Amino acid sequence: MKAFVLPAYGSPLVLTDIDQPVPGDDEVLVRVRATSVQPYDWHFLRGEPYIARVMGGPGLRAPRFSVLGADVAGEVAAVGKDVSEFRPGDEVYAMPKKGGFAEYVCVPESELALKPRNVSFEEAAAVPMAAGTALLALRDDGRVQPGDRVLVNGASGGVGTFAVQLAKVFGAHVTGVCGSRNVGLVRSLGADEVVDYTKEDFTRSGRRYDLLLDIAGSRSGSACRRVMTRKATHVLIGGPAGRWFQPAGHVFATLAAGLFVSQRVVVTEVVPCTKTKQNLMTLAELIEGGEIHPVIDRTYPLAEIPAAVSYQEEGHASGKVVISLLSHMSE
Ligand SMILES: NC(=O)c1ccc[n+]([C@@H]2O[C@H](COP(=O)([O-])OP(=O)(O)OC[C@H]3O[C@@H](n4cnc5c(N)ncnc54)[C@H](OP(=O)(O)O)[C@@H]3O)[C@@H](O)[C@H]2O)c1
Repeated sequence: MKAFVLPAYGSPLVLTDIDQPVPGDDEVLVRVRATSVQPYDWHFLRGEPYIARVMGGPGLRAPRFSVLGADVAGEVAAVGKDVSEFRPGDEVYAMPKKGGFAEYVCVPESELALKPRNVSFEEAAAVPMAAGTALLALRDDGRVQPGDRVLVNGASGGVGTFAVQLAKVFGAHVTGVCGSRNVGLVRSLGADEVVDYTKEDFTRSGRRYDLLLDIAGSRSGSACRRVMTRKATHVLIGGPAGRWFQPAGHVFATLAAGLFVSQRVVVTEVVPCTKTKQNLMTLAELIEGGEIHPVIDRTYPLAEIPAAVSYQEEGHASGKVVISLLSHMSE
């Protein structure tokens, strides 16, 4: 099968032929129709920040995975002998965390869900990691309640476009922070108020929020606390990219300072989450019910994955960057 392989940290991704994976007893072989790109991919591409290598993330000297690609949508091609829930031909989506930049990937049955019926494979591939993170951050870590005033810093990217919509589903009053180009987009997703960070510093607004979802990590924890109620929750999701420490440095510094303040400070981590399947089913229901929808900035063909990763890494995508394999399937 065709796959983009990462030979070493920092080297270009190479499109090549590799063996098709064989599903284990409890695994499903998915024929990938679409995948999507996120910061997670280029962190692995370069093994950055370096501190993550020491912490056991991407691999110390060499990449732990040779095929990147965290999200997929596609069709079941084959199932292991213990798989009972899926059959060949089923349309599914998943967050395998690796292996998505290829024509086939194996996913444990326990982490796979049926794709929302009313969206394309490309739209479905935009969902797992970004929407899963937003759901986890709001519902589980943020414990959002109807009527809460929620601020989403980084409202126009992959995670943010889902966070704004999901916060509205949970009945919150939502303020989204984004750049000028995306103000209209964030408003169209249901945000009650939008702050253009090129014109206004949200930490100087004088308003107060019950829940602050920090996706961009553009302001320090102490600056953010100026606009949080005494009992507010500060959910740390991401931060500025860096070679050595960031975004981990921003997250750890805010978390450490949080030990001495009245607000609750928590970190959202979607990768080790054990509820991925249930979350994908919840998200599929919300998409089928028309309550949320994926926002896609650009769609690239398989051969252009390196260009898609570069564009995503610029950090200003309006929603998700998606890869379509529909025109590149080897029969
Ligand atoms: N904790 C987890 O489990 C988890 C999971 C997924 C992602 N993440 C992290 O979350 C972060 C965002 O991921 P993503 O997929 O949403 O990335 P993305 O699609 O690249 O979105 C980033 C967004 O940040 C916005 N932004 C840039 N500078 C900003 C500023 N100064 N103030 C406010 N917004 C600003 C950009 O908006 P404009 O274009 O409008 O400037 C862009 O839309 C990354 O750090 C990623 O590593 C964490």
